[in-house]
Amino acid sequence: MKDEPPEAETDLRPREVAVALPPQTDAGVYFIGTIHTPWHTRGECPKRGSPDGPICSIVVAERWQVALTDLADHRRIQVLYWMHRARRDLVLQTPFRTGKTTGSFALRSPVRPNPIASSVVDLVAIEGTTLQVRGLDCLDGTPLIDLKPDRATASS
Ligand SMILES: C[S@@+](CC[C@H](N)C(=O)[O-])C[C@H]1O[C@@H](n2cnc3c(N)ncnc32)[C@H](O)[C@@H]1O
Repeated sequence: MKDEPPEAETDLRPREVAVALPPQTDAGVYFIGTIHTPWHTRGECPKRGSPDGPICSIVVAERWQVALTDLADHRRIQVLYWMHRARRDLVLQTPFRTGKTTGSFALRSPVRPNPIASSVVDLVAIEGTTLQVRGLDCLDGTPLIDLKPDRATASS
């Protein structure tokens, strides 16, 4: 199924406010892999991951394979990902679910200047450069930006 197009930058819900984005970004990120999930639209996607959710795959680019060494020692890992389909210019948002207009930094919405998302997930298996995890809440094809052991099990 095809991905949804990004939200039109002109569509605003009641009381939402957009600002002009800066003319350029200040830093670059490397997308280190791709996340595969069963969800192709924002409507289908859970609002937050659950340990009872389906197994999803994280495919890390081969260049970074050695960096996965020892990750399998951790049962829970933090996944950081880039919500590539979200607009970035809203400072006040009116979530459909609550209807309450709220500042973007007071929400976990994907709509934010830097659409970075984070979930702590259960690591089920690692085979080569593919991780099987449970607990994600992102669209199929979401770019991966980092993996870290969960604080509870990390040694440093
Ligand atoms: C509320 S955010 C929470 C993300 C992360 N767990 C966090 O707390 O940072 C999850 C929602 O973002 C939306 N979403 C998921 N993947 C996305 C993507 N690649 N681009 C834009 N929106 C996405 C879906 O509507 C999903 O329900």
